[in-house]
Amino acid sequence: MVGVTTTAEVASQADERIRRLESQLVREYDDVPPSLVHEWIERARARFGGARVQEYVPLFVAREVRASARAFPVAETTGTFLSSWARNTARRLLAEELPRRWAHTAGVARRAEHVARVLPEDERELLVAAAWVHDIGYASEVTDTGLHSLDGARYLRRAGMSERICGLVAHHSGAAAVARLVGHADGLAEFTDQRGRLRDALWYCDMSTGPDGQPTTVHGRLAEIRQRRGPEDPVVRALAINGDERLAAVRRTHRLLRRK
Ligand SMILES: [Fe+2]
Repeated sequence: MVGVTTTAEVASQADERIRRLESQLVREYDDVPPSLVHEWIERARARFGGARVQEYVPLFVAREVRASARAFPVAETTGTFLSSWARNTARRLLAEELPRRWAHTAGVARRAEHVARVLPEDERELLVAAAWVHDIGYASEVTDTGLHSLDGARYLRRAGMSERICGLVAHHSGAAAVARLVGHADGLAEFTDQRGRLRDALWYCDMSTGPDGQPTTVHGRLAEIRQRRGPEDPVVRALAINGDERLAAVRRTHRLLRRK
């Protein structure tokens, strides 16, 4: 049967092309939640699924999703310099090299824009900016010690960012416990863990956003971290120490959100 392509093969090639198209569109339209891009793709696919020439389906789907993305209203943030800088920096460092991390980051930032209302006005933009840059320490240009929160914070300090934003990134989502396990507690101590609503809100946004940027529950997120990283990973081992602290930060923010 050399040279003959079966229907099943054509379908699986089409699936693969759609999957690649989805990652590409998520990167292209980072103002749109990845879950929404996925929804648009599935809807367009259902519409064109019966097309006579299946090879054209991804083209039709792409055209339709691009039209929806262009019509998607982009939320304006207040006082845009800091958050724009943070967003552009994260995009430059992550989008190409680590597209999945970039999709997660964009999801955390979108969550932050929504959660910011629980904070005093002068802290709202800080939250959004910190959300954009919280994981830049994974980028090869930034990695040094291998503890991404510390590497990200040091990069931000070199870039002249405020100590508040550096501290938020350094200590996000229970980083102190990980730092102790990997021998970088002294390094992390260069930065202050500013306990309070702003710091809780950043942890909340990170803990309620999945690896592809989709909203998730904190328990879903913890289960996903355990599964993706495996039991030996310091981030997973640290959960025994910082798990309760992470949950407490999430609970406090959740309570504020319910009140507002
Ligand atoms: Fe994160």
